[in-house]
Amino acid sequence: MEKFYVTTPIYYVNDKPHIGHAYTTILADVLARYHRLLDVPTYFLTGTDEHGQKVQQAAEKNGITPQQQCDQTVVRFQELWDKLEITNDKFIRTTDEDHKKVVQDILQELFDKDLIYKDEYKGHYCVPCERFYTEKDLVEGCCPECNREVQEIIESNYFFRMSQYQDWLINYINENPKFIQPDHRRNETLGFLKQPLGDLCVSRPKSRLAWGIELPFDEDYVTYVWFDALINYISGIGYKKDEEEFKKWWPCSTHLIGKDILTTHTVYWPTMMKAMGIEMPESIFAHGWWLVGRDKMSKSVGNVVNPMDMCEQYGVDAFRYFLMAEMTLGHDASFTEEVFVTRYNSDLANDLGNMLNRVNKMIFKQFDGKIPAVTVEAGDEEKELQKATLEAVTAMKESIPTMKLDSGIASIMTAVRAGNRYMEQKAPWTLAKEGKMDELALVLYTAAESLRIISGLLSPTMPQKMAEMRAALGVPADKIEADVEKLSHWGVLEAGAELAPIKALFQRIDTKKVQKEAPKKKKQQPKAENVVELIDIEDFGKVQLKTAKVLEAEPVEGADRILKLQLEVGQEKRQIIAGIAKFYTPEQLIGKMIIIVANLKPAEIRGVKSHGMLLAAKKKKKLTLVTVDAEEFPTGASVG
Ligand code: ME8
Ligand code: MG
Repeated sequence: MEKFYVTTPIYYVNDKPHIGHAYTTILADVLARYHRLLDVPTYFLTGTDEHGQKVQQAAEKNGITPQQQCDQTVVRFQELWDKLEITNDKFIRTTDEDHKKVVQDILQELFDKDLIYKDEYKGHYCVPCERFYTEKDLVEGCCPECNREVQEIIESNYFFRMSQYQDWLINYINENPKFIQPDHRRNETLGFLKQPLGDLCVSRPKSRLAWGIELPFDEDYVTYVWFDALINYISGIGYKKDEEEFKKWWPCSTHLIGKDILTTHTVYWPTMMKAMGIEMPESIFAHGWWLVGRDKMSKSVGNVVNPMDMCEQYGVDAFRYFLMAEMTLGHDASFTEEVFVTRYNSDLANDLGNMLNRVNKMIFKQFDGKIPAVTVEAGDEEKELQKATLEAVTAMKESIPTMKLDSGIASIMTAVRAGNRYMEQKAPWTLAKEGKMDELALVLYTAAESLRIISGLLSPTMPQKMAEMRAALGVPADKIEADVEKLSHWGVLEAGAELAPIKALFQRIDTKKVQKEAPKKKKQQPKAENVVELIDIEDFGKVQLKTAKVLEAEPVEGADRILKLQLEVGQEKRQIIAGIAKFYTPEQLIGKMIIIVANLKPAEIRGVKSHGMLLAAKKKKKLTLVTVDAEEFPTGASVG
């Protein structure tokens, strides 16, 4: 392999980074560091996705401009990457002038080739996902990705002729099995491609969404955020700007993504590249989700794991280690503080930390802090430890191209445990007491040499700690950064090399303390799926339910799912918007006594004010209003 170019998704700046963002970025960093150790020219790109509705809405909510929203939030990402020792070569922001220019150049080129055309469009839009869907994409009328309500929209827009590439794409995927990884994700994309592929709407009218890159051929529109964002992978390395740099790195080795953005990366992006006439990336790799316990992480549940907090509490390297060791790439993994602490204590504090501390202390005590010279022949036990260590080198090297980092790390830990067993067998403390200095030198040298190799193998995952560890093993300052090729050589530590003293490399975490502190931090208990969470009476008390009478009901133009209702709530008149047009005609509603949530924050739905929400029962395709069981009853009465 002559070069390695790795990317992460560029993250939305609507909110601060969480453990999922940290994970993908650390993974890319570990891969980049490994390749650099292998002397492979490496380029690592990450950044932020700053346009689109999500960012615009976050700005509105925060009462600032979208640009301010971006500028404030981007710092949170950059600070976190600094803290996490991320070694990206470039940080791209889609609001960068040169990125915007590349996007516009590409749009113009495709427009000139008639690969982009104007048409009228009717569809359903999911705001959180920023995705359009056709009627049949919807699941029970809701977004197929996130299950939330969608908005119906009719407007003129520009379309990219994505559909014409469908057959080509299916063939390409079939002929290049490495293109989409892991295999089950490739099958998912092929499954998606069994349906006829439509053309891709690549514009948004400014009247609806102003925050985006203006179309070069129509100033009334901005670019669809995904069309803009995906281009970062090429604009970030000089496409249409510095062709030499671009050629140096393209095609990309691996686009790392989460499974949530598979379609955009394995359908939209390849067809865009095909239209532009650029080579396909070698691989698009989709990893699974970090769950919290068994739950999806979500702001409303309040279980979002903040990577900054984890690093502050347990250290950056331990956090990096945990994420890499715990997740089997391609599958979901579960994060809880308990699992974290257990693994930390067993792998890092006990196995690795202990072994290093023993070896380092004994060399200080018995050999004045210098690597002892070996004067006797290695026996079977030494050869066994050497073998176990070198097996870890092979396993780790193999785990990189196959994306099995967790098993590579597991084999390193196997070698660490072999080292601890070796120490128990040889009992160097007894050898010291008995004055068997030649044998003692052999044992400590062997153990130190095994640890040197292990520290090199783990250095991409734990760069700071492994540098400390190498210094504590007498690795000279200019060799602190390991060279993976040299790792397979046994006997590199030089007699007489001075060790840096070390306290505990990984301080043991007192599990009792963690448990005691846990309730204070208001951690969400892991809960089984489909189990209803219990709430306190006070929680329910916050919801103000009232009786209300429907005075008027009318449809809303351009939105066939909702009705505008005028209600009487005691002395008060209220207007609310309800998504019940498919279930009730306006006439059926007038005069009905219903229940509403009276203290819901007012909202604007399809440009119409809604002040409250009515209660209805819904299952599958059925819906019925919650009404009052009395002929005559006052409106504005509280329900509870
Ligand atoms: O989708 N577990 O940005 P985004 C693991 N801007 N990884 C997770 C995760 C979790 N629970 N949650 C998020 C976007 N991620 C677009 C991308 S690319 C041209 C544009 C990670 O801020 C995972 O890598 O929503 C996922 O793909 C990414 O964050 C989505 O970040
Ligand atoms: Mg997302």
